[in-house]
Amino acid sequence: MSTVFERAKEELTLRPCKHQVAGHLFEEGKAGSLVDDAGHFYKPLQGGPRGRREREFYERIQGEVAAEAAERLVSCANGTVGAAAGDAGVSGSRRKSWDGEPDRRQRAPFTARNAMLLRAIPTFLGVVEAGGRQLVALEDVARHYRRPSICDIKVGFRTWYPNGDAAYIQRCQLKDAATTQSTLGFKICGMQVYRQCQRGYWRASKRWCKELPPEGVNKALLRFANNEAGLRPADIYGGVRGAIAQLRDLEAWFQEQREFYFYSSSVLLIYEGDVADAADARLSVRLVDFAHTFASDGKKDANFLAGLRALIKALQGVVRMDFHDSLM
Ligand SMILES: Nc1ncnc2c1ncn2[C@@H]1O[C@H](COP(=O)(O)OP(=O)(O)O)[C@@H](O)[C@H]1O
Ligand SMILES: [Mg+2]
Repeated sequence: MSTVFERAKEELTLRPCKHQVAGHLFEEGKAGSLVDDAGHFYKPLQGGPRGRREREFYERIQGEVAAEAAERLVSCANGTVGAAAGDAGVSGSRRKSWDGEPDRRQRAPFTARNAMLLRAIPTFLGVVEAGGRQLVALEDVARHYRRPSICDIKVGFRTWYPNGDAAYIQRCQLKDAATTQSTLGFKICGMQVYRQCQRGYWRASKRWCKELPPEGVNKALLRFANNEAGLRPADIYGGVRGAIAQLRDLEAWFQEQREFYFYSSSVLLIYEGDVADAADARLSVRLVDFAHTFASDGKKDANFLAGLRALIKALQGVVRMDFHDSLM
């Protein structure tokens, strides 16, 4: 944990997060997320298994990274560092592959085989208590943006998992069928777009997102890229550091990884809203929401992977469009 965070913990001065675009929001009378001045984001842990799973996910990652660092220190002290490269890694983090044999990938150290995941998820700082609630303290992924335009896209053709209870599965199935989740493989859950001319944000309501038909999604994605100050869809979605390129990196990791299933997780697209030049937009793709994340039984996360590919394909269509297509 950072010392800044340790200090912040002692005198937590938290305020509602202005840039939260989806999920549980204060404005709906629920416990929304908070931020502090040090660049930290605090998400209230939901009761029951959801909060427990989210916490366990972050703690597992933290534990794996710490164990690997400790092992490296010991190797350093013993003068054996690098001696078992490829076979080394964290003994605790070695996993059996789907055919029962530990494969080469699984023998690589946790941080090496999951480098992409570690880049995509917010840094975890710990769990704190405030106002009688438990909050998971994370890096605020919007902290480096003056006017963050943010889009939350839930990925996957389904949000339910076979080991969920019957009522939960049914609720998810109804929601997935009523939105673009089950048809397109992703759903826009929320977005805010900074519009320079109006010096303010356009925010999609939950209802707007819920009722967005499949044929409206391209327009919504175009709208997200329009800061009315010169940025074009190609500046946000295209190019070497654009959304498509970054999502492709994530896709490559999902193609290989056999350790996690991510249901109902979202990718966040974030860029600087008050700029006119593509080079200043600093588009960033992050992965959030792990209330329905499970350890994999050695198989690919086919559901997330398919949704991610569908999203990339949609953006590849949008990147060639222009804003006159987004008047809606
Ligand atoms: N680490 C973070 N930094 C900044 N904003 C975040 C972070 N994590 C989530 N958010 C914001 O909060 C919203 C909801 O987050 P999420 O984890 O999906 O919560 P919920 O479980 O309520 O759906 C996201 O759409 C995003 O706007
Ligand atoms: Mg969410």
